[in-house]
Amino acid sequence: MEGKKRETFSGSITIFLATLGSAVGLGNIWKFPYLTGENGGGAFVLSYLFCVLLVGIPIMVGEFYIGRRSRKNAVGAFSKLNAPKFFKSIGYFGTLSAFIIMFFYSAVAGWVYSYVFKALTGKFNLLRSMPMEKAVKFTSDTFAFTASGNLYPMLWQAVVFIIVSIILMAGIKNGIEKVTKILMPLLFLLIIICDIRALTLPKAPEGLNFLFHVDISKLSKSVILTALGLAFFKLSLGMGTMITYGSYFTEEEKLINTSMRVALSDTLVSLLAGIAVFPVVFQFGMEPSGGAGLLFKTIPLVFSKMPFGNILLAAFFLLASIAATTAMISMVEVPVAFISEEYKINRKLSVLITTSIMFIIGVLTVHPNSIFGAVKILNRSFFDNFDFLSSNILLPLGGLLIAIFIGYFVLKENLKDELLKGYSSEKVNMVSAYRFIIRYVTPILLLVVFLNSIGII
Ligand code: PHE
Repeated sequence: MEGKKRETFSGSITIFLATLGSAVGLGNIWKFPYLTGENGGGAFVLSYLFCVLLVGIPIMVGEFYIGRRSRKNAVGAFSKLNAPKFFKSIGYFGTLSAFIIMFFYSAVAGWVYSYVFKALTGKFNLLRSMPMEKAVKFTSDTFAFTASGNLYPMLWQAVVFIIVSIILMAGIKNGIEKVTKILMPLLFLLIIICDIRALTLPKAPEGLNFLFHVDISKLSKSVILTALGLAFFKLSLGMGTMITYGSYFTEEEKLINTSMRVALSDTLVSLLAGIAVFPVVFQFGMEPSGGAGLLFKTIPLVFSKMPFGNILLAAFFLLASIAATTAMISMVEVPVAFISEEYKINRKLSVLITTSIMFIIGVLTVHPNSIFGAVKILNRSFFDNFDFLSSNILLPLGGLLIAIFIGYFVLKENLKDELLKGYSSEKVNMVSAYRFIIRYVTPILLLVVFLNSIGII
């Protein structure tokens, strides 16, 4: 695209909202509650917070650096910055991760979209008059049909891809930016309404206790690895999303500030989602470790006996679909920017190629009733393997390489120059502290958790 000026976001607020739109997604609303449930509650939440602080934020700053300094996609960026060729693999692996995540993420997004439709068409009206036990069974059955029906889940997955493609084809300012600017504030509002409702349930204290009480004996290798993987997944790190978005930042944007604001706001949304889900789990005697269906089995019950319950229910799932959609846009943008810039293919065609491949492989593999749906590798379904491979292996590995690149291959002068843009005073100590963390703390922590998880140390 030489000659034609590369698009950027228009200013600080839109940068914040678009980046937050990438971070906030099904990771907060679907994954965070169910992983917290499976991994023992407060102890997991605490490990997660540490991972965000010591690994997530430093890597996000690093990705923004690479993106804005080069103003290129996740592969091209490394040539532009004269990095050793090897580092280009971050971009290639990132593109691969985008595909792998989208295979299953789009399926879950399809479930969420379908719940908006179900709520609007009164599918959950019956809940109002049902005794509790029957209501719990009804929501479980509804989820089972949504996730494992024959054509049903695939059709919704197709709807997801159509919407994502339309937004992406519109471009950066007209597509990504416009959509996130309207949708993100709406999302905050809706989640707070859900919280208020959940907090007024009699068993709310038990739910909160589960979420916030730290029982150190619950910590284990796998809990910590899961927390680390979630931090990457949540903050959209380790695969070039933030490199790509950073490449659309303005020159004045303060990279360290933005990373902290995004990470903190994202964490707040996860906690708010947990506050909406766990009181319900305890109120209705469900298992916190209920797995991937947790959200879908709890939320309809929250609203079932309330006035305007159906509208609130539709609103909640609408919120979740908004979050999922803005996150997917950023995921698909990684291969789209790569294909369109490196191979000089026009943007619309790049979107079409990318989403078609994602849809076809996704549909063939992740649904229990699809062609390869019953195939198990290492005793896990494709769905679970894609999830495990991306969060626990590819993203942390990408993150490690990014930390090494920033810490050991970027000149201190360049780092200082880029990170201090937008500040009126020379905050040299801030840059030195950052450089220390990204050289020593982040990569060592990553390495230890990683080697530990595959049993080497
Ligand atoms: N951060 C998104 C979420 O929490 C998922 C995501 C991962 C988006 C990687 C982009 C890249 O749902």
